[in-house]
Amino acid sequence: MSDAKPTTEPHGKLTIRALAMPADTNPSGDIFGGWVMSQLDIAGAIAAAEIVRGRVATVAVEAMTFIAPVKVGDVLCVYCDLKKIGNTSIAISVEAWSRRNRFFDRVKVTQATFVYVSLGEDGKKRRIDKTAPILST
Ligand SMILES: CC(C)(COP(=O)(O)OP(=O)(O)OC[C@H]1O[C@@H](n2cnc3c(N)ncnc32)[C@H](O)[C@@H]1OP(=O)(O)O)[C@@H](O)C(=O)NCCC(=O)NCCS
Repeated sequence: MSDAKPTTEPHGKLTIRALAMPADTNPSGDIFGGWVMSQLDIAGAIAAAEIVRGRVATVAVEAMTFIAPVKVGDVLCVYCDLKKIGNTSIAISVEAWSRRNRFFDRVKVTQATFVYVSLGEDGKKRRIDKTAPILST
């Protein structure tokens, strides 16, 4: 048995919040994982675009873990943190936490690393200027 204590605080900056609606459920009545994943991708893309100051495209999703189900009525809060900047790519750590039971409870539901590629206006990959100050993560 592990002595590790469960994480009780989100890691990173709150980037988006979204209300889990009945239309987003799977046949079991919980929220469909694809909806959760898309919320993480949206948040990660916002964080990445802020850092590279331009367009980004998702190139990979690494180590996605669904820890607990999301329920109808939860407010999904997605937190992002810069993990790594490469030449044209940027990796963002993304965590989703559900606020539920009228906001009394906060449960970590999903975590992943999303990798984005910086794109120029022509849609081709673009080298990231690492000397520019980071606006936010
Ligand atoms: C993003 C895209 C323009 C990259 O073009 P490419 O010429 O294949 O790019 P490269 O192979 O040179 O990789 C570019 C960067 O991404 C990284 N990368 C590529 N594939 C990766 C993967 N599977 N995992 C992690 N990083 C990856 C490379 O390491 C490189 O990083 P670096 O420049 O920081 O060293 C192209 O792959 C593309 O258009 N993909 C589709 C994007 C898309 O539609 N996303 C939405 C999907 S829902």
